Amino acid sequence: MFTQISESTNQAAHFLKLGKAIAIPTETVYGLAANIYDEDAIRSIFTLKQRPLNNPLIVHIHSFSQLNEIAQNIPEAAFKLAEKFWPGPLTLVLDKTQGIPDVISAGKPTVGIRMPNHSLTLELLQSISFPLAAPSANPFMRISPTNPERVFEYFEGKIPFVLDGGECANGIESTIVGFNNNTPILYRLGAISVEEIEDIVGEVEVMNNENSTPNAPGMMKKHYSPRTKLILTDNVSDEIELHKGEKMGLLCFNESNLEDSVFSMKLLSKDQNLEEAAHNLYEFLQELDSQDLEIIIAEKLPNLGLGNSINDRLQRAASE
Ligand code: TXA
Ligand code: MG
Repeated sequence: MFTQISESTNQAAHFLKLGKAIAIPTETVYGLAANIYDEDAIRSIFTLKQRPLNNPLIVHIHSFSQLNEIAQNIPEAAFKLAEKFWPGPLTLVLDKTQGIPDVISAGKPTVGIRMPNHSLTLELLQSISFPLAAPSANPFMRISPTNPERVFEYFEGKIPFVLDGGECANGIESTIVGFNNNTPILYRLGAISVEEIEDIVGEVEVMNNENSTPNAPGMMKKHYSPRTKLILTDNVSDEIELHKGEKMGLLCFNESNLEDSVFSMKLLSKDQNLEEAAHNLYEFLQELDSQDLEIIIAEKLPNLGLGNSINDRLQRAASE
């Protein structure tokens, strides 16, 4: 199959209407998208990603008017969050309506929904008569792609079309919030910080641990992984010393004079800006992962704001 990369939303809509899965840009990461009402197309997403069928997909909408088509019994706090953060990197897990195929929600009574903040994808969603289900456009357990070239590397010859929306602004997946008796619970740390969520709805429980039947399998311990062994540490220079003689990559947040001690170094943000660090995270990991390193040493970020979300991803990348 020939894989086309283009900015044409008409072309994108054409393939979607034919029942194909295509790649779409969002402000977080690229997604592998298909018509939520076309079960064969949805199943093809699971096959393409080699994703287990018990791992539900997020439904992407373009306007509040589509919300009632997808979800019901919507808690007041969900409306507050949606009003504040949509379009944007917030996924709400809500009771689903009858029309949502079980394959999307993995048989659960709930469904994840978000309104992405990317002009091309919003334009695409407005031009078609169905919402799009879209997980991140990476094979299962691999690093999420934040530009069209990475998507192409992963799926060349397997999907017909990549909608080219450039680099993803946020660079890390959406924050997922669900509800237990109308009380918000944070299921996945992401591009909106816990602090920002709490500013709107008060203190939230963070269920970001990896229990055996995770509510959000994005929370599985091993996930978001480079193939190179990765170590997460507070003390980069000690770790480098321990691995002396090995071909090392360093992913760091603080500037240092350690560049000469390693084969390759990536500084997440020169200004120690957490947004910039999130934007760079996955692409830098991809670059380090392609250098045949023996080990990647990653420096822990400060545990505040997006630092928490980035540390979460690095922790998962580091787990055996
Ligand atoms: O930023 C994002 O959210 C990106 C872009 C493409 O929108 N999508 C994304 O999708 O990260 P994915 O499939 O890689 O991760 C979605 C997470 C999964 O961990 C899934 O288990 C969880 O959302 N999820 C979806 N529906 C759910 C539900 N009904 N209950 C609990 N978790 C759910
Ligand atoms: Mg994913």
